Amino acid sequence: MSTKQFDVVVIGGGPGGYIGAIRAAQLGLNTACIDEWKNDKGGPAPGGTCTNVGCIPSKALLQSSEHFDHAGHAFADHGIGLKDLSIDVAKMLKRKDGVVKQNNDGILYLFKKNKVTFFHGRGSFVKAVEGGYEIAVAGAASETLVARHVIVATGSNARQLPGAPFDEELILSNDGALRIPAVPKKLGVVGSGVIGLEMGSVWRRLGAEVTILEALPGFLGAADEQVAKEAQKAFVKQGLKFEFGVKIGEVKTAKSGVTVAYTNAKGEAATLAVDKLIVSIGRVPNTIGLNPEGVGLKLDERGAIVVDGDCRTNLPNVWAVGDVVRGPMLAHKAEEEGVAVAERIAGQHGHVNFDTIPWVIYTSPEIAWVGRTEQQLKAEGRAYKAGSFPFMANGRARALGDTTGFVKFLADAKTDEILGVHIVGPFASELIAEAVVAMEFKASAEDIARICHAHPSLSEATKEAALAVDKRTLNF
Ligand code: FAD
Ligand code: NAI
Repeated sequence: MSTKQFDVVVIGGGPGGYIGAIRAAQLGLNTACIDEWKNDKGGPAPGGTCTNVGCIPSKALLQSSEHFDHAGHAFADHGIGLKDLSIDVAKMLKRKDGVVKQNNDGILYLFKKNKVTFFHGRGSFVKAVEGGYEIAVAGAASETLVARHVIVATGSNARQLPGAPFDEELILSNDGALRIPAVPKKLGVVGSGVIGLEMGSVWRRLGAEVTILEALPGFLGAADEQVAKEAQKAFVKQGLKFEFGVKIGEVKTAKSGVTVAYTNAKGEAATLAVDKLIVSIGRVPNTIGLNPEGVGLKLDERGAIVVDGDCRTNLPNVWAVGDVVRGPMLAHKAEEEGVAVAERIAGQHGHVNFDTIPWVIYTSPEIAWVGRTEQQLKAEGRAYKAGSFPFMANGRARALGDTTGFVKFLADAKTDEILGVHIVGPFASELIAEAVVAMEFKASAEDIARICHAHPSLSEATKEAALAVDKRTLNF
């Protein structure tokens, strides 16, 4: 066992960690990244939750299931007839695993390209030493590293329901939800948040009867109310069943499936019997095995590492980014923090604008937003103007055969500065980028309204919604 010295040691190789490590190395810092994720052969699988059991595999399954759904429902409208449509779930899952592996391998390649030293194993704080911190790596080979700066990017884990631990056979976290071997007849989901909607959509499209139980009285509280309403209407039409205002009681498993006892919104006792149950009730920051107490690294009451706006912890030269700290649990937020921290370590002025972090939910219709919602502006007492444009009036959406939803702009009543943009509809995930750029540049709604947008394109709905702020749409 030898001691290796680095300028920066990153613990965790998810989007916060691996991107932070690459940026640090690009800036000439001698950088190591430690990640413990194992593939099915026990080898390294960097990329964290996002690559292995999150963003990437969920989008692969959303794509496969959307193709199946279109083939079964939308193709006929285009004059395309199909006989004997079927789904090979094993093949679909294998394809998804292949996409994950491509991303794992891509990260290992990027580490080599950027001269980041990778260690496969668990990293933990040992002690503060002269010139930095001693970090132990426990893996195939044990190592001791000394780091001038440490970036902690250890991510998060799925929250369990009390008394109902994940077995990944019947009670599933995001991990099990991404590898159900055959389409369940009845699928229960607890939590109508992002994972519940995305994974519920996947298995509903493949034929499962999906019931989602949600504790809150309303749907998707973080989204703009008008968007949430439109999306809920579409999901119900597709066949997703929702129950709001529930209180989950005992969850029992048997060979035949899972029974969830709950109290419904009227206070009545009810039960839901399903073949499998996905529990998607949020995630908890992960510091398992990190030994934060060994060096006095401060955590809050939720277990998140306490950081300031610049991702500095209470310890000198120890930084933390991504899901393990405050803020939205999103891959691109983690990446931006990783880059900003690397730049700060190198003496630059890295910056993350928390006001322009986009949210995307990859359901059909897709939901995407950036900035303030209408209900937030009302609560803040801010004077604003709103303008929206329906995809129904957009030529490209009609040609696609996907006209659900709208684009909505919220702009300051006096200055016309864009305060929020909310999209529900086709390719909202891609359309939102224009709004993010506009908000970063402090654009006004009129700026977007005056820009030439290609015809026919969905982005014309964005331009028209910007025009709608001034009540002068051209096509509606
Ligand atoms: P993680 O990605 O969790 O990575 C942490 C890494 O650190 C892991 O590899 C872990 O093994 C490793 N680690 C932990 N402790 C140690 C240790 N002591 N030593 C060594 N290694 C350690 N976000 C989006 O923006 N878009 C999406 O579409 C999206 N879809 C999602 C879908 C699902 C089903 C889920 C669950 C999440 C999704 N997310 C999405 C959220 C996104 O995955 C997370 O926000 C993101 O992965 C956080 O990145 P991170 O680097 O902070 O942590
Ligand atoms: P979430 O926070 O999005 O939603 C959890 C839902 O569960 C909420 O509606 C909450 O009210 C409900 N809930 C909590 N406790 C409950 C209980 N006991 N009974 C019934 N309902 C309960 O969390 P989710 O879906 O687990 O996802 C975790 C995070 O992962 C997301 O917040 C997001 O940050 C990230 N993610 C992002 C995606 C994307 O960007 N497209 C996709 C999937 C996940």
